[in-house]
Amino acid sequence: GLPHPSLCVSCPDFETAAKAILPHKSYIYASGSANAGLSLKTNLDDWQRIQFRPRVMRNVGDVDTRRAMLGHSSLYPFYIAPMGTLGAIHPGAEPEMVRGAIAKGVHMVVSTASTKSAQEIMQSFADEQRGLSDQSPTQLFYQYYMPVDRTKAIELMHIVKKCGYKGLWITVDAPVLGKRTKDRALQAEEALAVGMEEERSAEWEVGGENAFAPAMGGRAVTGQLSPHTTWDDLAWIRKVWNGSIVLKGIQCAEDAKLAHEYGIDGILLSNHGGRQLHTAPSALMTLCEIRTYCPEIIGKMEIFVDGGLRDGSDVLKALCLGATAVGVGRPFMYALGAYGAKGVERCVDVLVEELAIGMRLLGVTALDQLKPDMVNATKLLND
Ligand code: FNR
Repeated sequence: GLPHPSLCVSCPDFETAAKAILPHKSYIYASGSANAGLSLKTNLDDWQRIQFRPRVMRNVGDVDTRRAMLGHSSLYPFYIAPMGTLGAIHPGAEPEMVRGAIAKGVHMVVSTASTKSAQEIMQSFADEQRGLSDQSPTQLFYQYYMPVDRTKAIELMHIVKKCGYKGLWITVDAPVLGKRTKDRALQAEEALAVGMEEERSAEWEVGGENAFAPAMGGRAVTGQLSPHTTWDDLAWIRKVWNGSIVLKGIQCAEDAKLAHEYGIDGILLSNHGGRQLHTAPSALMTLCEIRTYCPEIIGKMEIFVDGGLRDGSDVLKALCLGATAVGVGRPFMYALGAYGAKGVERCVDVLVEELAIGMRLLGVTALDQLKPDMVNATKLLND
């Protein structure tokens, strides 16, 4: 049976619980990665390859984990990363995740490839907030694939704005869908079971976040992922969208610099949870690269990172090196799958406890005291 949620004391426990209860196909979808899985592996490994340089005897009685994000205050330096097709993970889909987020006041980025529509998700957010005597500080942001068709793009931006999402997070690391090996194997297996050979449809090339999206009740984003978008399209969006824009999936210093030149509010260093390019760099590696080649952009724009963060101490490392805040993906997905909104709440508690303990052991009482000299990255950078 499923362990009581209080027995989940660290992020990996949610995966164990979810794996035990989710349909195989759903677990494959959540846990999957590209090709031989090395981008995912490096995401998990790299955080463990840098060490802290703690300071002691600094009166760490009270600690404050607050950190502003794109002009919105936040109780925590982390948010729930956008993940498509939550209906394959929990029958309550995105509204269930939103409920958990609101209960803890954590921000969330909603995926274009969601099971429910942008309007339905915002409606559930508003209904939930209305039921509270005190408003939750939770804000919803919108993850967006830039459609090449500008009429369609304007339409979508209009919906996002009208719903009240707080900013556009444009995913730029997916001109095509990565090769999701486990999904592919499973699909081929299913095709064979009904006496067919897998037919490679165009959807594999420019399909949704996962090829099963329609079958699992997801919103196919076919026709939205576009191999044709360029920085010119971004310049156009920058002109027509008057809210904040974050580019999700920046993977080298040159593009980080370009994003700054294009007047973008923030960049999210990410390799899409290891689901896109095989042997892409971890966000930590890209962050170190930016520190070396264009340190001047740090502090001029917000820098987010995601991928493989599984412990509050990983979050602290990212912040030491200049990250504004971090995205956490799969742990929240597994928590949702195993326990619904209660699991999402529990996952926030786990991360916050680790953050608060880590801050005290590191000798800081507020996140703005985290500095690059509080980590030692020689091992990561020298081999
Ligand atoms: C994702 N991610 C993602 N990103 C995005 O921009 N749009 C999307 O629809 C999705 N969908 C999605 C589904 C699933 C199942 C996963 C695991 C991931 C990527 C996500 O936003 C984030 O970059 C990574 O999940 C972060 O890595 P961790 O925390 O999962 O290791």
